[in-house]
Amino acid sequence: MNKIRYGMVGGAEGAFIGAVHRAAAALDGQFELVCGAFSQDPAKGRRTAAALGLDPARAYDDLGALLAGEKGRMDALVIVTPNHLHALAAIAALKAGFHVISDKPAAMDRAEADSIAVAVKESGKLYALTYTYAGYPLVEEARRRVARGEFGAIRRIDVMYPQGWLSAPIEQDGQKQAAWRTDPARAGISCCLADIGVHAFQLAEHISGQRVTEISADVSTHVPGRRLDDDSSVLLRFANGARGTLTASQICAGEENGLSIRIYGEKGGLVWTQTEPDSLILKWPDRPMETLRMGGPGLSPEALARCRVPAGHPGGYIEAFANHYRAVAGTLAAGRVTSPLGDPLWFPGIAEGVRSLAFVETALANSRGAEKWSSL
Ligand SMILES: NC(=O)c1ccc[n+]([C@@H]2O[C@H](COP(=O)([O-])OP(=O)(O)OC[C@H]3O[C@@H](n4cnc5c(N)ncnc54)[C@H](O)[C@@H]3O)[C@@H](O)[C@H]2O)c1
Repeated sequence: MNKIRYGMVGGAEGAFIGAVHRAAAALDGQFELVCGAFSQDPAKGRRTAAALGLDPARAYDDLGALLAGEKGRMDALVIVTPNHLHALAAIAALKAGFHVISDKPAAMDRAEADSIAVAVKESGKLYALTYTYAGYPLVEEARRRVARGEFGAIRRIDVMYPQGWLSAPIEQDGQKQAAWRTDPARAGISCCLADIGVHAFQLAEHISGQRVTEISADVSTHVPGRRLDDDSSVLLRFANGARGTLTASQICAGEENGLSIRIYGEKGGLVWTQTEPDSLILKWPDRPMETLRMGGPGLSPEALARCRVPAGHPGGYIEAFANHYRAVAGTLAAGRVTSPLGDPLWFPGIAEGVRSLAFVETALANSRGAEKWSSL
């Protein structure tokens, strides 16, 4: 199989997620970074390219130059900029004939995400959206067990994503990840919901296999002077009658990335916690709870296929991203641009992007309005 030659927009020195993508893409040897427009500051972009050992001629000052200069020399564009460039970059790359791997949220709002969906369809190219947590082996195990009815009909889905890093107005001191996330011009319609609420939402629908049909939201901003939301509580109603909650907050002082999900059916339940990602806890009313472990006994073949090291050696965040990269590579190698849910090569795409931004928009509108419930 030929390596997938990719370019990167964003991800310069000092950036967070670009380096994670590069590490994940390198893990299975199926991707090769060939070029980049890593920063809005050309000098910084060139320094980043040099540090990564790239040909200086392929360090571009902006995305337009990259897309023009890389025709026939690059297969895919990886988008790891702040949100305001996601749709612009994705649509331009698709139109120029490149596949796209973008970080979430897909765009600044639902309308932009819809435009990406149109461009994906018209281009016939692959579009992957890195909803990281769906790449964990024990998330796949949880999804499979719910799907095969192990817990009976699902009644309750509670997902929470507490973070504490925006408890103080660090954006006012120039913390750059905080500065753009709290700036409507660069983040879009939301800070907290679009940044981490979308992860929680995607995970809830993904593991439960149920669609959220109605929500009731209380979205707030605690830190004085902040222009976008930093805290939210959302009641959820699912298509099958299940009920649940989603809380996403960035002002839970002292919390790291405390994402966890609990799903309960008629016959039992499950708990998965991102800070202990190698364990999946199963709860039963009539026998002791069980703990399934990454690489350990009892896992389905689909979850085992996502485990990379023997049981007891911790897996993690980069490996979860790498599982999406591997699915993308496998899909392209099979001559396809999509892999449906359930396929071993499944990866999140624009459908998940549109859906989660619809959730964000609906939650914000519901929270501001007088209606108790809003349809999704
Ligand atoms: N999937 C996940 O778990 C996860 C985690 C963190 C961030 N993210 C997403 O990744 C994206 C980046 O977040 P981050 O925390 O890495 O931000 P960051 O601020 O650390 O990095 C953004 C990078 O984009 C570059 N950039 C800005 N404007 C640019 C332009 N015009 N041209 C080229 N480069 C430009 C910046 O110089 C910087 O290098 C966001 O959309 C965020 O939501 C996803």
